[in-house]
Parts: sequence; C-alpha cells; structure tokens
Amino acid sequence: MSFRLLFVGDVVGEAGVEAVAGIVPGLREGLGLDVVVVNGENSAPGGRGITEEGSDALLSVADFLTLGNHAFDAGGKFMEREPRVARPANLKSGLPGRGWGMFEAGGARVGVANVLGRVFLDERMASPFEAADRAVGEMEEAGADLILVDVHAEATSEKQAMGYHLDGRAQVVVGTHTHVPTADDTVLPGGTAYATDVGMTGREGSVIGFDREDFMALFLGRPRKIGIATEGPVIFRAVVVDLDVEIRRATGIERLTRTWPAS
Ligand SMILES: [Fe+2]
Repeated sequence: MSFRLLFVGDVVGEAGVEAVAGIVPGLREGLGLDVVVVNGENSAPGGRGITEEGSDALLSVADFLTLGNHAFDAGGKFMEREPRVARPANLKSGLPGRGWGMFEAGGARVGVANVLGRVFLDERMASPFEAADRAVGEMEEAGADLILVDVHAEATSEKQAMGYHLDGRAQVVVGTHTHVPTADDTVLPGGTAYATDVGMTGREGSVIGFDREDFMALFLGRPRKIGIATEGPVIFRAVVVDLDVEIRRATGIERLTRTWPAS
C-alpha cells in the first residue's frame, strides 16, 4: 500500500500559520497526501513557542504537530488535553504533553515522535538518542505501521547520526530547528527517508524568520531585542515522502517549496 506524507518545517509566526492554512488544503488534494505533519514550535505571534489558537489553526489543516526547544515559551498547558501534539520526549519530567503520539490516516497507524538535540543547545539534557529508542519501541508496541521522528537540533552532525541510528526502525527522520534547508534528502540503506533540515515556513528576506537588521546588529556587537520579521512573502518549505506500508520502507523523498501569497 502506497502512502504519501508531507512534513512542513518550522512555521514562524502568524504569517507562517496563514501560509500553512492557505497552502496545505490544495496540496492534500493535488498531491494525494495521506498525512500532514507540521513543526509548530515557532508559530506563536512573536515566533517563540505555540499558542492554543495557533495549534488549533495548524491542526485544522494538519494531522499532527511537533515542537522543539521553544515548546513552552508561549504557555503550553493546552498540550495536556491535545493528543495531536508532540513536544520533545527528552525534556525534564513533569511538563505538560507527551513525546510521541499516534493516529490513523490513509489506512495506516502513524506514530510521530519529537526529540531535542543537545549539541550547541543544552548538553545537560537527557539523551535524544535514548529518548528516540524508547519512543520508537513504545510506538511499535502500540501498533504503529509507520514512524516519523522529528529531530529538532542545531548540529547537522547530531541530526545525521540520528538518521543512521534510526535507519530501518523509523520510516521518516526529519531535522528541524536551524530553519535553513539542507540539500541532502535521501532514502537511507534501511529504508528511512531522511533530510538534515527541512527549512522554515517564514518570511523571505529574514534571518531565520526574524528581523535581519536586529540580527545584523547582534553580530556587529550592538545587540538589541530580536523581533520577528513582519514584511515580505512567506516561503513554505516541506518534504514529500512516499512510503510502502507493507514493507515499511520509504521509497522516495522530495523537497517542496511554495511562496505565500502565491504570485
Ligand atoms: Fe527550535
């Protein structure tokens, strides 16, 4: 049974949410998508965290959301009652939400997990590799036909290592967080579709979705508060993954880029 999945990279701010809401329904129809997963950890109006309203808006067109290091920057209590959101599985215990979730789509049971890298982020955090092993084991036990792991990390090396670590056990391993797309989408030898970073869905002409003047001031030694970029079209960045559910292998991965509003 063939199965097609869309994964959308870090959605930045309200403009990013609007782009996802505007683009995804047409893609579902046009590409025959069975499932849509979106990283929403920068979707709050200020670009840090996710609000319940933002989550609802994204989930009106997506099946499931993943998060990252900013998961709780804009609150997040709603995660206690929203099963369609995964925040990093390797955060300290006691926080709302869960590290993986499962749902049915296109005739398959799809498990989605989120883990947070440590390199250049927080070396004291629990191992994302052990957390991914646990999550994959639990999703398999719960009857997942297909598994996606979003590895939200700064270092390309850590994400590549995670891809090989999960090759053949997760069918999709996608990297997020750095907001800049990499050109290495591939199917690994064990049948795992992999990309080091999907790239963001945020304003073109920005620095990772934020005001470029603010970032330039930071790097020129005149740091000031870094605000979200507010002008220009939004670049929507995603990957489309084709999968064979019976043999539990990805058969292809391709990048998909759109501009919003469409020109
Ligand atoms: Fe992040």
